[in-house]
Amino acid sequence: MSPLQKTYSASGNEVTYSVLGVISNPCCTVQQGFRYIKVYIEIESEKDVDQMKDKKAFRKAGREILTNLTAVEREEIVAQILHHVQQTEWWKKAKTIGITISREFEIDTRPFIKQAWKEGKQVAIPKCFPEDDHKMVFYQFDDYSILETVYSGLLEPDILQTEPVLKESINLMFVPGLMFDRNGYRIGYGGGYYDRYLGDFSGTTISLAYSGQVVDHVPRNDYDIPVQHLVTEKGKLF
Ligand SMILES: Nc1ncnc2c1ncn2[C@@H]1O[C@H](COP(=O)(O)OP(=O)(O)O)[C@@H](O)[C@H]1O
Ligand SMILES: [Mg+2]
Repeated sequence: MSPLQKTYSASGNEVTYSVLGVISNPCCTVQQGFRYIKVYIEIESEKDVDQMKDKKAFRKAGREILTNLTAVEREEIVAQILHHVQQTEWWKKAKTIGITISREFEIDTRPFIKQAWKEGKQVAIPKCFPEDDHKMVFYQFDDYSILETVYSGLLEPDILQTEPVLKESINLMFVPGLMFDRNGYRIGYGGGYYDRYLGDFSGTTISLAYSGQVVDHVPRNDYDIPVQHLVTEKGKLF
């Protein structure tokens, strides 16, 4: 193996990422049902200082992997993940969950919200404050009518129509992400909102992922906070 290459395994398939931008056709092949998709990731450097560039490449790959799923695969994956999550003690015990309203290409969180409501759990959803030091506040979520579209098609609560939920009262936090590794490190959307929010969060953290989004290692920085649990359509990884 050349020092310019790193290999990771995604869904049991060999994945090669180029480093230093030298290799012209880096690819990641992910099995999706009966199909294989190739994801191109250009990694600039192996040095820590350039982790941000590497993260960008992983973000792009994660988005591509999710976008390539068909509607049928997507639905099946979500149903299986929900089934696995429901078997866990953290779900069963949680009185209040923190969860985002997913966008179209992401793992659909609506079935989780529906199930939580059905079981009488309180649901809290985040609002991001980019101008206020990238602060994030969770709000009570009982009805889809309180949502408003903000930037990048993101749905957030209209805070005039709801009440904030204290961090201390959230038992189970669903942390969104684009790529994950086996130590719980995640590549988020690049805002660092969860790395800030989770610093003094004492509840349980979990991420939901399609297995193609899971690799052995993702780039990480000192401030990155790993999630405690990762569940894919294949089951609970940890
Ligand atoms: N605890 C923190 N305090 C201050 N800034 C932070 C903290 N955590 C992350 N950041 C900042 O957030 C930005 C995005 O972090 P990154 O890990 O790349 O995003 P994401 O976690 O969304 O993938 C970085 O520039 C980083 O400096
Ligand atoms: Mg981070």
